[in-house]
Amino acid sequence: MRFFISILIVCIFSIGLQAKLYIYIEKGVELPLKNQQVTLYSGTPIDKISASGDMVKVKLSGFVGKKDKTKLFATKNLKLLLASAEKPGLIKIKGEKGQLVVNVPKKSLTSDMEEAWANGSDLFYDKCTKCHHAKIVEHHSMQDWNALFGSMKYKAKTTKEQNVEILRFLRAFAKDGILKESD
Ligand code: HEC
Repeated sequence: MRFFISILIVCIFSIGLQAKLYIYIEKGVELPLKNQQVTLYSGTPIDKISASGDMVKVKLSGFVGKKDKTKLFATKNLKLLLASAEKPGLIKIKGEKGQLVVNVPKKSLTSDMEEAWANGSDLFYDKCTKCHHAKIVEHHSMQDWNALFGSMKYKAKTTKEQNVEILRFLRAFAKDGILKESD
């Protein structure tokens, strides 16, 4: 019994240590890290490796396509972009999976998922609730959202930049996305 309690304590402790962090960008969706030849995208969940001063060393994990080895996506269907590199080799590839280790400024990270996705989410709840109640994002797959958003964006009269943000939000929180709105 005591053994199980110790295991439980260890588990709870390690969950606490592995609290997720997300790429946070005040405006837009891109975080270019020029000196490292990569661009990260807003809301991307990352694992913290270590911190020194204002920089945090982080790991991004995801999927890469068969041809283009410079883009890391959240899921196998390659619909939600997490990072792009200026040249192949920067993303370490194993089969269809990829990993990227980069240094990110502390101010571009948050442990608050809602804050990380606030731009897309605010736009969605603002632009997409004018004619009907907010549709439940989780009710549709990423693929469905492509088509649904494709027809709705004209109704919502959103700009190109807003479309990018909303679609990112819809894909991340879709049925087969990587996040849950209630998390
Ligand atoms: C100008 C009005 C208008 C705006 C703005 C609008 N919609 Fe719609 N939407 C409709 C109408 C009309 C329907 C069809 C009736 C319904 O399902 O409520 C619809 C239906 C939908 C459906 C259901 C479709 C289905 O087949 O189940 C989804 C999902 C949806 N809208 C998403 C969005 C999103 C996302 C946005 C923001 C980009 C948006 N809507 C903005 C008018 C609008």
